[in-house]
Amino acid sequence: MSRTPAVNGERLLARLAAFAAIGATPKGGVDRQALTAGDREARRLLADLAAARGFAVLQDEAANLFVRREGTDPSLPPLLLGSHLDTQPKGGRFDGTLGVLAAFEVLEALEDVGARPARAVEAVAWTNEEGSRFQPGAFGSQAFAGGTIPSEWREAQDRDGMRLSDELRATLAALPQAKSRPLGIPLAAYLELHIEQGPALEAEDVAIGAVTGIQATRWLEVSFTGRPAHAGTTPLAFRRDPLVAAVAVLGELHRSIMPADGDARLTVGRIAAEPGSINVVPERVAFTLDLRHPDDARLAAIDATVREICARHAAAAGCRMEVTVLSNMRSAAFPESVVTLVETAAARSGLSCRRIVSGAFHDALFLSRVAASGMIFVPCRDGISHNEAEDVAPAASIDGATALLNAAVDYLELAGAPERNARA
Ligand code: GLV
Ligand code: MN
Ligand code: MN
Repeated sequence: MSRTPAVNGERLLARLAAFAAIGATPKGGVDRQALTAGDREARRLLADLAAARGFAVLQDEAANLFVRREGTDPSLPPLLLGSHLDTQPKGGRFDGTLGVLAAFEVLEALEDVGARPARAVEAVAWTNEEGSRFQPGAFGSQAFAGGTIPSEWREAQDRDGMRLSDELRATLAALPQAKSRPLGIPLAAYLELHIEQGPALEAEDVAIGAVTGIQATRWLEVSFTGRPAHAGTTPLAFRRDPLVAAVAVLGELHRSIMPADGDARLTVGRIAAEPGSINVVPERVAFTLDLRHPDDARLAAIDATVREICARHAAAAGCRMEVTVLSNMRSAAFPESVVTLVETAAARSGLSCRRIVSGAFHDALFLSRVAASGMIFVPCRDGISHNEAEDVAPAASIDGATALLNAAVDYLELAGAPERNARA
């Protein structure tokens, strides 16, 4: 390499601001849910930036969007860096976007100095990581790792009845200049920069988290169906009210699951009563459960407890119960070699670093099933995320991108040289 590649902090911050403007909310956050017009606009901007630097733009059938900077040996599998551009309905400016733009910054930093590693380096924006509009989340990276899009995922509908398959088609068509590539190409390794989304790094004043793994997540939808009835005329003994079952279940779950196990997480993010009329005893009440635990077996045990509690209260209220699994993600442990790569890169960047387990799921969870993968965390203000107030200090974004660049440079030198020698 002629000169040492370096992150251009001003460029990175300007890009973060430009992407934050796409789907900007009045409270300073972003609403750019997966496969919406805003998501397409962000993809177009990334593709335009790539074209301006002469990088190739590719997408697969899951609309995962890749920007490729070619190496000297196109036969070598690429080093892949990235994250996601979709957001929560009231999301922040950094969740996902920082990782995509830092990955792109790595490509630009290499280009700036004319570095020519043997291996191509690619930046990826995975489709629908959040899962707020269509389930499951991490749709694109799961499809990539599995090599296919299961038909039930294609049939998924959002709350307005829009089908994922239609939105996917329109999103793919929005980038006619992108070359098609198959799902699940071979990779050398995958690295993802992300904000921590929790309070640990900031509290300890540590710049970089070297992520050792990701805890398990299970999303359920629970519904209780009773008998719709007149609110004014139906005495207690004649009611089969699904809301009575739901209230009892949610009370018991909140009193038991997390208080009993400090590592367990239980969240009810969505609840709805149908037909949703003031003077009708509801026919059906449905709510989601987001369950997490670092230990897969403990999460399975919590799932079983949840079902037992739901069945008991459904029977007591004279209602029918249904439990649907919307998403099921086993935990992942990243290889020690990649965790060490991140720690070394942080040290070389002059940044403090500590090991950390991710409480959030990420695309890296699924990439770790098909390639050596790892993650870099940077602190976010007050640990707040999935919130319009999400904020990251400019220096922290630049630190994260610097650690990512240095990890990539180390990887390319370490992994590139022996292969070149072997071919010579
Ligand atoms: C990712 O957005 C998660 O919910 O962990
Ligand atoms: Mn994210
Ligand atoms: Mn998120």
